[in-house]
Amino acid sequence: MMNTATMNTKTGKSAIRPMFDSLELRKDFPVLDRIIEGNKLVYLDNAATSQKPQAVIDSLVDYYRNYNSNVHRGIHTLSQEATDAFENVRNKARLFIDAASEKEIIFTRNATEAVNLVAYSWGDTNIAAGDEIVVSIMEHHSNFVPWQALAERKNAKLVIVGLTTDGELDMDEMKAAINEKTKLVAVTQMSNVLGTITPLNEIISLAHKQGALVLVDGAQGVAHLPTSVRELDCDFLVFSMHKMLGPTGVGVLWGREAILNQMPPFQYGGDMISIVKTDRTRYNELPWKFEAGTPNVADVIASGAAFDYLEKLGMENVRQHELELTEYAMHRMNSLPGMKILGPGEKELERRGGVISFLYGEVHPHDLGQILNESGIAVRAGHHCCQPLMTSMGIHGTARASFYIYNTREEVDFLVESMKTVDKVLGI
Ligand SMILES: Cc1ncc(COP(=O)(O)O)c(C=O)c1O
Repeated sequence: MMNTATMNTKTGKSAIRPMFDSLELRKDFPVLDRIIEGNKLVYLDNAATSQKPQAVIDSLVDYYRNYNSNVHRGIHTLSQEATDAFENVRNKARLFIDAASEKEIIFTRNATEAVNLVAYSWGDTNIAAGDEIVVSIMEHHSNFVPWQALAERKNAKLVIVGLTTDGELDMDEMKAAINEKTKLVAVTQMSNVLGTITPLNEIISLAHKQGALVLVDGAQGVAHLPTSVRELDCDFLVFSMHKMLGPTGVGVLWGREAILNQMPPFQYGGDMISIVKTDRTRYNELPWKFEAGTPNVADVIASGAAFDYLEKLGMENVRQHELELTEYAMHRMNSLPGMKILGPGEKELERRGGVISFLYGEVHPHDLGQILNESGIAVRAGHHCCQPLMTSMGIHGTARASFYIYNTREEVDFLVESMKTVDKVLGI
């Protein structure tokens, strides 16, 4: 099914064509056989959540049918099997993002909870009045509101960096924003609205020069780009498994071991302790110090099947497939009169991912989404949890088509043809 593309992960350019057949691969995703409004489902809402391959579904069923048990607590066979399977996924997560140690991999409910963990545990102990936290205007609310709330709690300042007219992070503004008062820069790896890929290496080096830490929101990036925390040299990385073939209910926080060791627990209770006495408690070691209570055993285990699937494809190949599909989609969509695609343009593909937010004449994005649904096409419409970005662009929302490994050129063609129907029905 594959051959290996050699790709420069910085430029996003590959020497050879991609390596997996999306049509073939679709057979692994049962939901893609759904008929919606008389048409085969065209699922273009991957930035919200991806579909799940049979292997992930099977892994969930296998756990519940054959070794359902709580982890870390029992000496019986089922509990040992569940614990082994659960901890094995921690290692898969480590390998996937090239982390140094499993101690640095913490399972959460989602990326949002991972950000909140850092905001409360690290933030409440390290941010003081007058400190500055830098974010970008294109952050998802999940990587915006926790920092805004932390700044409010501590009387610190939230500094918001804007975009250039091309929808890229304004690096001049970023340079000016990061100074000796900056304690943290929290920035997305890839925008869930504009597809913009941020120049993380540059930002991280600017922050570190000022002694500030960097949290990377990889909710989109990790699902679509090869990601190495050691190459990036960031301090925290968060992502959600449901956007990368895994089940809902599992997020990952990666943090540098030395920093995590200094941080107090986020939540208190079972599993996160080593000894509890009536007058004091000694907390567990990493990573369990941050995993209070029964974790999401089934979904973490099934996340292992998602990692396996993506590893088999190769993230360079995933990126290459999306680059080609995005280029094709932008080219075709731009041929429609009245079409306005936001974010980096067709010529700046290496600086964007497969997320296409667009406006179509005067048509309201919700109407657009509804009419496309009548053709079986699932796109998202609205502010995409990025209201500050929408306000800065002077709009209320967009329609958004976002791709993943199983999307094809034929689906893009169908989208473009269906847009013409929108024009006929509503008039753009
Ligand atoms: C860029 C970005 N950050 C954070 C999140 C939050 O992810 P979750 O809802 O899984 O916590 C999302 C989800 O859409 C996202 O796109």
